[in-house]
Amino acid sequence: MKVLITGANGMVAKAAIAYCQSIGDEVVTKTRQELDISDREDVFSLFEQEKFDAVLNCAAYTNVDGAETNQIVCAMTNDAGVGNLAKASKKINSAFVTISTDYVFDGTKGDFYTQRDQPKPQGVYAHTKLLGENQARLNYARSIIVRSGWIFGEGGTNFLSVMHKFLAEGKSIKAISDSFGTPTFAKDLAKRLRELAELDLPAIYHVTNDGEGTTFAGFAEKVCELKGLDKKLVEGVAMDSLSRPAPRPRDSRLRCLFSEKFGLSPLQSWEKALEEFLQ
Ligand SMILES: NC(=O)c1ccc[n+]([C@@H]2O[C@H](COP(=O)([O-])OP(=O)(O)OC[C@H]3O[C@@H](n4cnc5c(N)ncnc54)[C@H](OP(=O)(O)O)[C@@H]3O)[C@@H](O)[C@H]2O)c1
Repeated sequence: MKVLITGANGMVAKAAIAYCQSIGDEVVTKTRQELDISDREDVFSLFEQEKFDAVLNCAAYTNVDGAETNQIVCAMTNDAGVGNLAKASKKINSAFVTISTDYVFDGTKGDFYTQRDQPKPQGVYAHTKLLGENQARLNYARSIIVRSGWIFGEGGTNFLSVMHKFLAEGKSIKAISDSFGTPTFAKDLAKRLRELAELDLPAIYHVTNDGEGTTFAGFAEKVCELKGLDKKLVEGVAMDSLSRPAPRPRDSRLRCLFSEKFGLSPLQSWEKALEEFLQ
């Protein structure tokens, strides 16, 4: 398959590039500098010059707090940018896979969110990601939307991806202990993105590692357990004590109604995935 991967410097993109190359795909990568997905002309011009069997959109404005003050830049990428790629993919009739987020839900359900649940995004980032889902669905019926959450992996700069380094140095960390999510290893997500492109069944998928989910503190304690470190290094704190600019869902655990029915096996448990990541 000839695959275009956008946002090529990002955490998930790097994992997707590695996976697609490992199975022999012809992979075309574009960093933000090489292809700004919010630039309609550039997107269409690329798709006129080159044809792809599948487009994996890993590009996004992902600074959740920054989005509260950079609303236009955020929307240009997460909303309009997804629309540009969906329309361009339609023009060349390629599979189109784009990533969305657990943050499209408000987190008040108190249980796993499935595709039957109504999105109710809270912050600017979350709103623009839902608008991006709509852009994909409305502009190209073949779109595959993948909601994921709490992603960790190589090259990641978020809390889940870097905390193990602090813990390994014996530093204590503060971790939220009253907010729940389903962690997802970028490497496992990347493989699933490619599998979904191949399956070519348009829908919204919820893709996370298997299991009951956890809190950030629970995740950090598991790091300690796997690395033989003292769990006392992890200080649990309340989500509200951080007073961050953007609201976040308190419980955004995801579960998929379709994956297994469509013959896709569950991803490994987040604990197993974390073990693999730490190795
Ligand atoms: N990380 C999570 O926990 C999480 C959870 C749920 C969903 N997601 C979704 O998963 C996807 C991948 O996230 P990630 O964690 O890999 O994010 P990431 O590491 O921040 O990567 C995103 C990439 O997109 C690029 N980008 C930003 N604006 C762009 C534009 N206008 N055109 C082209 N590229 C652009 C960024 O480039 P620069 O670095 O140059 O700015 C960056 O390389 C995103 O859709 C995100 O919303 C992430």
